[in-house]
Amino acid sequence: MQFPVTRMRRLRRTSAMRSLVQETFLLPSQLIYPLFICPGQGVRKPISSMPGVFNLSIDEALKDAADCAALGIGGLLLFGLPASKDEVGSGAYADDGIVQQALRAMKADASLNSLVLIADACLCEYTSHGHCGVLVGEGADCTVDNDASLPLLAKTAVSLAKAGADIVAPSDMMDGRVAAMRDAMDEAGFTETAIMSYAAKFASAFYGPFREAADSTPQMGDRRGYQMQGTNLREAMREIELDVAEGADMLLAKPAGPYLDVIRATRERFDLPLGAYQVSGEYSALIAAFERGWLDRDRAMMESLLAIRRAGADYIVTYFARDAARLLK
Ligand code: PBG
Repeated sequence: MQFPVTRMRRLRRTSAMRSLVQETFLLPSQLIYPLFICPGQGVRKPISSMPGVFNLSIDEALKDAADCAALGIGGLLLFGLPASKDEVGSGAYADDGIVQQALRAMKADASLNSLVLIADACLCEYTSHGHCGVLVGEGADCTVDNDASLPLLAKTAVSLAKAGADIVAPSDMMDGRVAAMRDAMDEAGFTETAIMSYAAKFASAFYGPFREAADSTPQMGDRRGYQMQGTNLREAMREIELDVAEGADMLLAKPAGPYLDVIRATRERFDLPLGAYQVSGEYSALIAAFERGWLDRDRAMMESLLAIRRAGADYIVTYFARDAARLLK
C-alpha cells in the first residue's frame, strides 16, 4: 500500500504514539562505566583530553562506584595506573597490583554488590614501553612477542580473578590469549570467572585520549602489528570465531560508533552476549562539540548510545554511563 493510503507520519504524531512504537531501549543495567585507578589517597586527577573523566585513587574510586550502584549501572571496567612500570608489565599480575587492590576494596563493600566488576586484562598500562605484550628485537625490528606474552596475560587473569573480578576482559589482541587465560584460571580454581573478550578490536585513532588517561602510549611503533585494521570485517568474524572456540563467555566490539556494521554482523552470526565499547575518542569528540555549543549534550549522547544498541549490542562500555543513567532515571 502506498501514499496516500499509507502515511508513515501517523505514528510519529505525538510523543505518546512515538513511545508506543519505539523499537530500541537503553537501561542503566546495560551500561558499564570505566574507572582509571591510580595510587595514593584523595586523588582525583582530571584527564585533560577527556573532560569529566579522572584518574582516581581507590578511596575516590569507591565514591564513584557507589554513585554507579545508586544509578543502577550494570558494571565497572577497571584500568590501572601502577606506581612503576617495567619491561614485562609485572604490575599487571602483582598480588598487590593497583587494580587487584581496588577489586578487593570494592568486593568488601556490600553497597557495591549490584555492580559486575570487570577487570581489563592487558599489559600496556604496566609496561615501560607501553605495548600490550613483551618485546623482542631491537630498534626498528622490535615487535611484540605473541607466545611469550601469553603466560603473562594468563597470570594477569588469574591474579585479577583471585582479587575478586567477576569478569576478566582481555584487550591485548594476542593470538591464543583467551584459551591461555581460561586454562590458567581453571587450573587455579577460578572456574566461575567469566571472560569477556575484546574479540573485534581495531587499531584505532579513537583510542588517543585513553592513552593519556591510562598512560599507555607506545614509546615506539604502534599497535597495528596486533590490533586489526579498520578496513576488515571478515577478519573480525574470524577473530571472534577463534575467541568463541577458545572459551570466551561474552564479546566486546571496539570502537563502537565508527564500527556499527561490525556490531550488527557479530550479532547476526554469534549468540554470545555482545557488548560494544564507545571509546575515549568517541566520547571526547562529542564532549568537544558540546563545549562549543555545536551539539545538544543529552540528545546527542543518547542518540550515540541508542545507535549502538540498535546495531545489536547488549551492553555498552561508555564514559557517558553515569550521565546517561541519570537521564534514564
Ligand atoms: C588496552 C586498552 C585500550 C583501550 C582499552 N583497553 C587502548 C589501546 O588498545 O590502545 C582503549 C579504550 C578507549 O579508548 O577508551 N589495550
